[in-house]
Amino acid sequence: MNVLIIYYSQSGNTMLVARHIEKGLRRAGASVTVVKLKDATYEMMADYDLIGLGSPTWKADTPNMHHFIDKMPDQGGKQCFGFNTHGTLPHLYWPIVIPNLKNHGLIPIGYKDWYGDVTMPGMPKPYYTAGHPDETDLREAEEFGYEMAVNSPKITAGDTSLIYPDPEMNEKVFRQAMICSNMLLCPTNPQGAFVRHPERCHYPKCHLCMDNCTMGYIDLSKDPQVYGNRGDRCDDCHECSFCFMICPFGAIEVEPANQFESDIGADHSNFERMLEEDEKTGKFRRLIPLSEIGHDTPYVYWHPERPYFKIPKDPGPLDLNSTDSGPLDPDSTDSGN
Ligand SMILES: Cc1cc2nc3c(=O)[nH]c(=O)nc-3n(C[C@H](O)[C@H](O)[C@H](O)COP(=O)(O)O)c2cc1C
Ligand code: SF4
Ligand code: SF4
Repeated sequence: MNVLIIYYSQSGNTMLVARHIEKGLRRAGASVTVVKLKDATYEMMADYDLIGLGSPTWKADTPNMHHFIDKMPDQGGKQCFGFNTHGTLPHLYWPIVIPNLKNHGLIPIGYKDWYGDVTMPGMPKPYYTAGHPDETDLREAEEFGYEMAVNSPKITAGDTSLIYPDPEMNEKVFRQAMICSNMLLCPTNPQGAFVRHPERCHYPKCHLCMDNCTMGYIDLSKDPQVYGNRGDRCDDCHECSFCFMICPFGAIEVEPANQFESDIGADHSNFERMLEEDEKTGKFRRLIPLSEIGHDTPYVYWHPERPYFKIPKDPGPLDLNSTDSGPLDPDSTDSGN
């Protein structure tokens, strides 16, 4: 069986999960190709029996994968599976994504999500979900891949009972929709407004922000140069802050400069309540005690040097005989995601 995994990952959590799912699929005998979303085409999907689609959760949805899915030609009943990593608000993602996959002629045979650490300038460090995905999560990811490889041919042969049920539309889904719509309505970016200072920029020697802007909103080859930030927010960028985080030369700044100080007192009670409930049901395994959450050390205070974040390198296919989960090297910088 030929499987194509298409994923987007900004800070590396989903990439690590993707590589473990790949390992599980290969362990079950599948031949697997893994591509980043920016390199994926609809034409290549035709060559595969099963498609895996993975991304982080951003404001309940995929950050950019939904553009790929929205424009996807009808897949005529091809099987797919979904995977996702997230912070404290995971419940709305599948109710949004699964119907969208079906609308494009895909049959989602399974889907699974994992907690992941959150790396944003004004967010507490350590964050509530720090330490995820850990060894246990990654073992689960491998098992999920194995399960998809084993189930897919059985489903093709007619055993539709193996297809995961549709995601539940429960009270948590509606609560998260409310939290997210409040965030979307917020007129200012809680992470600050990003402003580029061309005089500090090392383009064309450096093109990191351009290669890694989630939405492709940066094009420094144009005259005048295009930088996605329009006013105090980019139009569909979810204020991701990645360009600011990865610029090695401080050419992208946040304004006002004391934005993060105002964030220290940010109200995280919605997130804490949701996690407490998910801990009780066993969905969330807390690795950092509540008392150690870094409310006084937002990420950029905790890591004050530029670049604030180095892009994790793709570890590539994992060794089938190794039990090592292949943690990401925090000091490596990949060229693009
Ligand atoms: C702009 C942005 C928005 C996010 N929105 C959510 C969200 O709505 N719900 C959630 O649980 N996590 C949210 N997160 C956290 C990420 O989903 C989480 O850190 C994920 O593991 C990142 O995956 P990656 O390392 O593959 O990029 C958000 C992160 C960013 C950067
Ligand atoms: S904040 Fe920066 S990296 Fe993120 S989408 Fe906007 S321009 Fe791109
Ligand atoms: S990352 Fe910074 S230095 Fe590099 S091209 Fe972007 S703005 Fe310029």
